[in-house]
Amino acid sequence: MNVYDSDRMKDSLAPLGYQENPDLQDADMIVLNTCHIREKASEKVFSELGRLRKVKQRAADEQNRDVKIVVAGCVAQAEGEEITRRAPWVDIVVGPQTYHRLPDLVAKLDPIERNRLIDTEFPAEVKFDFLPEQLGKRGPAAFLSVQEGCDKFCSFCVVPYTRGAEFSRTAKTIIDEAKQLISSGTRELTLLGQNVNAWHGDGIDGREWGLGRLIYELAELPDLKRIRYTTSHPLDMDDELIRAHAEVDKLMPYLHLPIQSGSDKILHAMNRRHTSADYLKIIDRLRTAREDIAMSGDFIVGFPGETDADFADTLKLIDKVGYASAYSFKYSMRPGTPASDKTEQVPEQVKSDRLMSLQQLLDSQQFRFNKTCENTVFDVLVEQKAGRAGQLNARTPYMQSVYFEGHDSLIGKIVKVKISDARQNSLSADIIHHKEAV
Ligand code: 5AD
Ligand code: SF4
Repeated sequence: MNVYDSDRMKDSLAPLGYQENPDLQDADMIVLNTCHIREKASEKVFSELGRLRKVKQRAADEQNRDVKIVVAGCVAQAEGEEITRRAPWVDIVVGPQTYHRLPDLVAKLDPIERNRLIDTEFPAEVKFDFLPEQLGKRGPAAFLSVQEGCDKFCSFCVVPYTRGAEFSRTAKTIIDEAKQLISSGTRELTLLGQNVNAWHGDGIDGREWGLGRLIYELAELPDLKRIRYTTSHPLDMDDELIRAHAEVDKLMPYLHLPIQSGSDKILHAMNRRHTSADYLKIIDRLRTAREDIAMSGDFIVGFPGETDADFADTLKLIDKVGYASAYSFKYSMRPGTPASDKTEQVPEQVKSDRLMSLQQLLDSQQFRFNKTCENTVFDVLVEQKAGRAGQLNARTPYMQSVYFEGHDSLIGKIVKVKISDARQNSLSADIIHHKEAV
């Protein structure tokens, strides 16, 4: 979602004459879009700000140039005051729900007074209504935010506090944005939300729609070839959404559905409000709807009170599901969340050991999944040139990265390839022929 937000910030600054500059040393403004989900991500912000201070100082000393430094995102939201105190060279702090005001904030900066501006409100207005409608060009596969915020309050998670309450955009604004992206060449959309399947909104027929219905509607757009959505919560996998997996060919057979732990005791303590059996049942239903659906998930090890037996339950669950890929993290204590008050914190070494065995298991599942793809023919969407000359990089329906020889003119097209070799994190293929994505 930060990638999406960064793009929208870039679009909103374009009327002021700003454009993306790949050279940090040469930039007039540097926007650091931050993540607060785990302590490590958060701490990185301050070390990065130390580096940016030098960039700003050098531009002032050597070129008499004032470089504006902006901190955006969830660290900005949660630690705005702290940022300006620890890093007084930061000019603007703007939260995830106020970045539409960035152009105004930039205009209010006064180089003589050297004023600092912080805007981390949760405003009554909806930022999407104030961002420029004109989007810059995105790639063949682009993100589209449909839902933001979260009302689930998992006991470990800062998102409900930093991103705010659940909010769904209307179907019309989403469809309009989709059409604009498609007309500029995008062929795959990933619908985004912290709780994307909680999306519900006014449909274009005046009825209340859920995410499944929205997907059926988007699939009608002829030049849109592939649809994905992320990240989902098990409690919001409703019948229509599951049916969409059976009936909508453009909906890719890959789903990121985090469970976090396989232990019912820990799931309860996490306030997930479902059991591991509930989760397995949903996966069964998804596989009945679409037998080749590949699963991905998120896991946290070392949540307060997690015993060896609880951890063993997580490994058992992973064995039962068989993931094509997954993300796993050590529990990170986040200030202000209910779990941070718990006394029975798990020692760091135990967390590290558990993370290692969990990742070994997940890696072996991913490798096995990739191997099953050898000699299979896939339609892949070519996203970009690969590092090696003459090679292209594409994605399979299952989100695997695949490399093959091909001409640059295929970028943005759907191409048929046969997988020749599978590795841990990518595949190699040979092109069969390409059917033009119109
Ligand atoms: N500690 C560790 N991992 C976390 N996540 C969210 N909060 C925490 C935390 N406090 C992980 C969850 C979530 C993913 C986005 O980040 O697995 O699904
Ligand atoms: Fe955080 Fe996701 Fe739980 Fe919401 S559902 S509180 S975003 S982990």
